[in-house]
Amino acid sequence: MKLHEFLSENKIKLESDLLNLCEDGINIMRESIDDSHNHNHVYRLFDFAHNLINAEGEDVSEKLNFDIFVPAICWHDTWKAGRFTNDSLKVFIFDQYWDGLGSARKFSKHIKTYYPTMDAKLYKEIKYSVRQHGGLSKSLFGVKNIETKVLCDIDTLDLWSMKRIKSMADKYLNHEHVNKRSRGIVRYYVKKYLKVDDDKFHFDWSKSEYLKKIKPILNEVEKILQKIDEIILEKEENNFEL
Ligand SMILES: [Fe+2]
Ligand SMILES: [Fe+2]
Repeated sequence: MKLHEFLSENKIKLESDLLNLCEDGINIMRESIDDSHNHNHVYRLFDFAHNLINAEGEDVSEKLNFDIFVPAICWHDTWKAGRFTNDSLKVFIFDQYWDGLGSARKFSKHIKTYYPTMDAKLYKEIKYSVRQHGGLSKSLFGVKNIETKVLCDIDTLDLWSMKRIKSMADKYLNHEHVNKRSRGIVRYYVKKYLKVDDDKFHFDWSKSEYLKKIKPILNEVEKILQKIDEIILEKEENNFEL
């Protein structure tokens, strides 16, 4: 779901500067060199946000400040958009930890350059959500406001997007690049990110979405791992024959 669709479907009005700021974030995402963190990731988060806001039994909508929440969605992965996790496990882990911090820095620079008169409190709140959504900041300090809690839940839910898993598979199953390290990255990703405790979520709706998604996704990942093993074996046999 695109930005304007999300706003109109949920009757959210943003001032023109905030709207431009959101578009700026999405434009950075559109140029992303990482398929799993591009503008489509942002659009999928709008889908999740829309579903959560309208879920029966959740009263999130009345509590959310959309002036914070919407720009935070658009900017949260702008740093990752410029990173391409190659087959180095070290780079991959570094990227996971630096995630929120990198985007928050990028966001700050952008505000100072293009929106210097932005309300200081609002600026701080958006920056907080962007920084705390992932990596080191989240694990060290947790999250305190509802905007960041929703962002964390929907961002985590997108880990179990079949589309995203398949685009990762395309990246890691590129015959030329498959090796034991790429298998290590996929295994690390499964252990650390796919199999999470459902108490990691802040809302009942997110928990039930997670439980619906996890099984088919783990089956798909298992197929990817088998394929990686086959390619590695084939490569080893070819090397042996040479
Ligand atoms: Fe992120
Ligand atoms: Fe994200």
